[in-house]
This record gives sequence, structure tokens and C-alpha cells, in this order.
Amino acid sequence: MAPTAEPMSEAEVAKVRDSARFLIDRFPAEAKVLVIAGSGLGGFVRSVVPELAADYSDIPHFGASTVAGHAGRLVLGRVGETPIFLMCGRRHLYEGISPQQAVLLLRALLVAFPLEIVVVSNAAGGLNPKFEVGDLMLISDHINWMFRNPLVGRNEEQWGPRFPDASELYSRKLREIAKRVAREIGILLREGVYVGGLGPTYETRAEVHMLRTIHGADAVGMSTVPETLVAAHMGRKVLGISFISNLLTVPAVTTHEEVMENSRLVEQKFSRLLTALIPRIV
Ligand code: HPA
Repeated sequence: MAPTAEPMSEAEVAKVRDSARFLIDRFPAEAKVLVIAGSGLGGFVRSVVPELAADYSDIPHFGASTVAGHAGRLVLGRVGETPIFLMCGRRHLYEGISPQQAVLLLRALLVAFPLEIVVVSNAAGGLNPKFEVGDLMLISDHINWMFRNPLVGRNEEQWGPRFPDASELYSRKLREIAKRVAREIGILLREGVYVGGLGPTYETRAEVHMLRTIHGADAVGMSTVPETLVAAHMGRKVLGISFISNLLTVPAVTTHEEVMENSRLVEQKFSRLLTALIPRIV
């Protein structure tokens, strides 16, 4: 079955509209913020009081994540008084799906609702030698090292321009607010460039060396880039936060277990930051 490996087409657009209709029937349009919760945000997910939810497997055309440790549920809930949509888990390109498929739910949400801000989060390997496991990093910019882009193929003019600008994908204004909030609540927030790789293999030593020395990148993961491209294309502001789950700067073996285990160590800190931050960005 290979239809999902195609670029954006009329059929893909129809799928997004179909999912959007499903969402409009199920959820009210009161939230301005969508949070895409990757590894490390389990604590935050549990702190959001759910009001309505849908399993990914029930959302037309999307499908459940195939990866252990990645739940698949869309929640409408509240952080304090602030209503948010929360995607608990995401689809990744390394599952063998197309970029269009990976971002289908995000696109449908943005078509269905007047969301203004998308907060993307992820676990990433540290490339910056100053970073430590458990650090949080504000994404200032990204490098698309997946060599795939969900905007390839037919462009839906209603959604955004054919050739979108990418000079400030991660809102400077939101980053300033995030830094201020982090300072106020005593959380060290690093800032740097995120590399989105295809995976599922972690990086070789030569790749780590190249990413750091040639590209000046600070952290590398396997997600976020397609979502940011789509949200920005559709005129939404993006805030990205990585948690450093492992260090690629030391001669150690990287495992999924290590990444998941360390995500439990930062859950509380990550949750505190987002809980304080969200009411301040709406
Ligand atoms: N590399 C790529 N993706 C990752 C890593 C890493 O070291 N850690 C968590 N996600």
C-alpha cells in the first residue's frame, strides 16, 4: 500500500477537509492554542483537565502512532482557565508515512479552528557541548535534514502561499515571552537550532561532527520540522521547545529506552514551564 507516499494532491486535500469536518462536529472552536506533546510532556498532559477527547484511530484518515511511548489522543482541555487543544503523541516520518500523512491532523485542526499558536515539543539529542541531559531548549530556528517537505505537491491557496517565507518560523515574540516566564519561575531555558532528521537511526559520529561544526546546530531529533512548516504556511505562530534527552557530544550509545527514561526526569519541569507560559501567550 503506497498511496500515502505521494505529494500533496486533490485526494490529500479532500482527506484533510474530511478530518476537519469530523473535528468541527466533535469539538467547539474556543481554543487559540494547540500543543503537540512529544516525549517529556507526559507530566503536562496529565495536568491538563480533559473536557473532550478523540483517539487518533477514530479521526478519519489519520491513524494511530506505531511507536511505543507515543500515545495517540486529541484532547480539548484547560490549563488554568485557558482552553487548549492537545495532541498527545504525533506521527513520524520514520514510520514510513508521507510528510502529508504525518501532519494530517495538524492541518485538519488548523482548517477547522481559528487556532493562533502551535506549540511543538520534542525530545532531542544534544549537539551543543554546553548542554546537559534534562535541559530545555527553545527552538530559534531549524534545519530540515529530512529532505522531505509536506508542502511539496499541489498548493492549496486558501491555506497559504506557494512559496512561503521561512526566515522566522519560530516566533521571536513568543520566544521572548517564553524566556521571560522561564526566568520568573527559575527554569534554565537554552536556545538553539534544531535539526529535524528522518531517523529512525540515531546519528553516526561523523554526522554529529558535521551537524555541529558545519551547521552549528544545537540539537537533533526526528520530528517537529514538518509540523512547523505547515503551521507557518497556514499563518500560525509557532513556539518550539526541545528537551535534551541524551548527549551526542559524549562517546555513548543512544537508545530509545534512555530517551524515554530521561523524559520522565524532565516531565515536571517541562510541565511547570508550559503551565506558566500558556496563559501568557494567548
Ligand atoms: N537523535 C535523533 N533523535 C533523537 C535523539 C537523538 O540523539 N534523541 C531523541 N530524539
